[in-house]
Amino acid sequence: VHSATTVTIETNAPGAVIHRNIYGQFMEHLGRGIYEGIWVGEDSDIPNTKGYRKDVVKALKELQVPLLRWPGGCFADEYHWQDGIGPRDKRKKTVNTTWGGVIDDNRFGTHEFMEFAEMLGAEVYINGNLGTGTPQEMAAWLEYMTSDSDSTLANLRRANGRKQPWKVDYFAVGNESWGCGGTMRPEYYADLYKHYATFLKTPADNQPVMIASGGHTEITDWTRTLLEQVPDVWSVRMQAISHHYYTLPTGDWETHGKALNFPASEWFSTMWQTLRMETFIKENIAIMDELDPDNKVGFYVDEWGTWFDAEEGDNPGFLYQQNSLRDALVAALNLNLFHKYARRIQMTNIAQMVNVLQAMILTDKEKMVLTPTYHVFKMYIPFQDATSLPVELKDAPVLTQGDKSIPAISASAAIAKDGNTYLALANTDPDKVQEIVLDAGKLRSASGELLTADAMDAHNTFAKPNALVPTPYKVKAKDGRLTIKLPAKSVMVVRLK
Ligand code: AHR
Repeated sequence: VHSATTVTIETNAPGAVIHRNIYGQFMEHLGRGIYEGIWVGEDSDIPNTKGYRKDVVKALKELQVPLLRWPGGCFADEYHWQDGIGPRDKRKKTVNTTWGGVIDDNRFGTHEFMEFAEMLGAEVYINGNLGTGTPQEMAAWLEYMTSDSDSTLANLRRANGRKQPWKVDYFAVGNESWGCGGTMRPEYYADLYKHYATFLKTPADNQPVMIASGGHTEITDWTRTLLEQVPDVWSVRMQAISHHYYTLPTGDWETHGKALNFPASEWFSTMWQTLRMETFIKENIAIMDELDPDNKVGFYVDEWGTWFDAEEGDNPGFLYQQNSLRDALVAALNLNLFHKYARRIQMTNIAQMVNVLQAMILTDKEKMVLTPTYHVFKMYIPFQDATSLPVELKDAPVLTQGDKSIPAISASAAIAKDGNTYLALANTDPDKVQEIVLDAGKLRSASGELLTADAMDAHNTFAKPNALVPTPYKVKAKDGRLTIKLPAKSVMVVRLK
């Protein structure tokens, strides 16, 4: 046991509200993310409600998913929304050129997505096609979804089964426009953003939050260029800039590193890689604070999570990977960071919800398993819409590997909507218990849940779905001190009383 770390929660200096959409999810037409993972169709032997898997819907409802981003990702810039409406058996068959080259029969389209979001009670974030679509096509999609008029498109929506317009909460113009979305320069994209957004008019009471495609990793020039060049005129609104960052154990896109059976050095390197997120957030926010001092534009990390080598034997374009205790730590470290920067970060979307990259849920035909990442998201539910509280760590140990170092403890705290104070803790040390002393004041106890295991790559399988699940944790204050023994490689969320 290392000498104790003192955690002080600044209850008198509350920060920003942690927008529940920080807990947003991403679902792309990719591998088994939607087809099989969510949508099996009404005729499937897999138990379903109107085509949606019952087991997956139930698990996601319990997760209180606040927001869904769809249809991509890279897929979004090749998606033509008209292919996915009308009678399902008459829809176009298209090739998913980015993800595995498979046929998408478009059985899951706008109506299916919107109905799914309604089932979950989630807000919607639609990503428009800038790369291969026209402003006319993008504007028509928005009209189809939001118009309550007698227009041909609104009537087409009604004919396809949806009387009332849908509320489109968020809308993005393109995705990764620096890469799969068109290999553009930020200046060129800024011009296109203005061009397209000029024509994206929706009813006054149904205006989505408009998102521009931003940079990734350490890149900041997209943020600067967009803020400098996109004016607030006409319907050209830019209310958020997106940013993507994936955690690769090796930091190398050739060999990412394995999901399981990885060397101990890759436990550390994964933690180190994921914590780089803070630098990227800080550098972009510094530019935003300079050019948007009134904090009008959000910084949305709308893709994040681990990206390992694809599972052997599977289509490498399906990005299917197992999810272990290491992923749970990655989730907790990032969520703690997002809480800290909640003033600017009002949305993030982990990639991706089911069967793709750092998923909440894995399925194999009729079987389903919840991942360690699912459990972390569930433990963190009290943080949705809570008020962030600054946390100070004193004497926290530092871990090193070569010339790199990381803090052993990550923490965040908030006052939840239920009036209680919650504390989230993660111990990145694979070997040592950390003793945490809470500057308790009037505190009597801490109770909640703990997620930990002996193996770094502990995980759930279809055969053993409950190998790694949270366990209850409770500790009482003694002599005015609240001491938490945080096990090696663990995540904990407690309510303080
Ligand atoms: O999440 C997988 C892919 O990662 C997305 O389609 C793309 O935006 C990013 O490169």
